[in-house]
Amino acid sequence: MTTSFAQRFCARLVLALALALPVLLPANAGAQRADATPRVESREGRHALIVDGQPFLMLGAQVNNSSNYPDMLPEVWPVIRKLHANTVEVPIAWEQVEPEEGRFDFSFLDTLLVQARENNVRLVLLWFATWKNTSPAYAPAWVKLDNARFPRMTNAKGETHYALSPHYRSTLEADKRAFVALMNFLKVHDRQNTVIMVQPENEVGSYGSVRDFSRVAQRLFDGPVPEPLLRRFGKKSGNWKAVFGTDADEFFHAWHIARYIEEIAAAGKAIKPLPMYVNSALASAFGRQSAATYSSGGPIHHVIDVYKAAAPSIDFLSPDIYNRDQAAYLEYLRLYERDDNALMVPETGNAPEFARYFFPVVGHGAIGFAPFGMDATGYLNFPLGAKSLDDKTLELFARNYRLFEPMQREWARWAYAGKTWGAAEPTDPKAEHRQLLDLGKYRVTATFGQWQFGTGRPTGNSEPTGGVAIAEIGPDEFLVTGFMTRVRFDLAAPRAQESMLYVRVEEGNYQNGKWIFRRVWNGDQTDYGLNLTDREQVLRVKLGAYRGKPVIPVGNPN
Ligand code: DGJ
Repeated sequence: MTTSFAQRFCARLVLALALALPVLLPANAGAQRADATPRVESREGRHALIVDGQPFLMLGAQVNNSSNYPDMLPEVWPVIRKLHANTVEVPIAWEQVEPEEGRFDFSFLDTLLVQARENNVRLVLLWFATWKNTSPAYAPAWVKLDNARFPRMTNAKGETHYALSPHYRSTLEADKRAFVALMNFLKVHDRQNTVIMVQPENEVGSYGSVRDFSRVAQRLFDGPVPEPLLRRFGKKSGNWKAVFGTDADEFFHAWHIARYIEEIAAAGKAIKPLPMYVNSALASAFGRQSAATYSSGGPIHHVIDVYKAAAPSIDFLSPDIYNRDQAAYLEYLRLYERDDNALMVPETGNAPEFARYFFPVVGHGAIGFAPFGMDATGYLNFPLGAKSLDDKTLELFARNYRLFEPMQREWARWAYAGKTWGAAEPTDPKAEHRQLLDLGKYRVTATFGQWQFGTGRPTGNSEPTGGVAIAEIGPDEFLVTGFMTRVRFDLAAPRAQESMLYVRVEEGNYQNGKWIFRRVWNGDQTDYGLNLTDREQVLRVKLGAYRGKPVIPVGNPN
């Protein structure tokens, strides 16, 4: 075979460019892969969802459970557009794609992909299969009705439980085959990666029985604890009871469910390596309840390590947070934000009081947030979520996304650098409406329901709507945004006679990666702190210090 001069010239040019590129490109660009498949990247205990080669903040929304049919999509898109969501989480049900064994039908997914692209949003697919809120409701009838081939669990009394047992190859192989067919469909029909993540199963585990007590399960339970789990917990070998004592039943169940999902996820990733996560119905954020009261075997916070040992193909574990209490909400964020676990809230209530939690979620560096039940099909999961999904309720979520939409890429970068913080107003009106955020050199005091002028007591807003998110974007420079919160910066450890000042507070917003200036805040707008109101405001705050006493604002009524 001969090569022309032009071909040789081109080949040399490509080689020269390839050698020069590391020098020409900024440091982080080297991390970009030619392969644009989304992925989760982690560095020094921090995480980013990489979409189209760059960190991406998922401004998400999850549709209702049965909105996974083409005729429902016209009820979905108007709500998504109103919300300014950039990603929609949609179920794909096993019963829908494999109604008869071996006959696959991905026509809904086909329609969904086309319409998502038309609406300029990305997708997260929720694989409702062996477990959906722990039950096999979404498995095809040929699975649900054949419990000889696909056995259900047995409870401690020897009765047949509703959940499918995780201990049977027959069930695992059937689920895996359908999941692999789904991933194959994506590989062929979604080269542009409209789908950015996949959630295998949904809220796995079992209610009412801590584990399967069938003979098959019992034999495994009496056998040795697998090596990776012993290693993870630093334990010596033995059977489950001997090694884990009172935790043994739940850890055993969690391990086997996690191994089951691991095999499915690994087979799917071998086809197309999209990020995969498992969502969790939660146990109480504080204290330890009896496993009979929550979905035992799911990725509850105290078994995250079991899942990590069992399921290396699962990128992260996620809390579905429907608890309206601020202290519990923040605790769940703390429990799932780990060096080895990217934080994402794939489901949260769509009632008005959940909207403010967006700010601590992104402040914790989460890769995404998604209120649940965001469509106009008429179903409302009150009291978990909203009583009515009226315009006023939607607007509380929409305004958050409008703030972040133009700067989601920047925010995701700051979060990946570990430079973001957030706070939300307490739920209890009697609680202290003042929170401190430690930003290193600076300390932020966030107060809720405080007059904009003066230093009166913060008593909370008339509805709990206060929330603030802050990012460090340069030396002594911060981006501040949110609603219904007063934000005051102080030096964390001022030297003698040292006082902080706002060198410049600009209001503006990001457009295509550029800061667009609108005005400077000064005088009343900064004297007592920065008052974020119900207006959509993004501030760039440059701080400095001088030698001298702090300013005493004129006209202070206190
Ligand atoms: C959590 C589940 O993951 C969702 O699918 C849904 O059932 C909600 N609970 C309740 O509406």
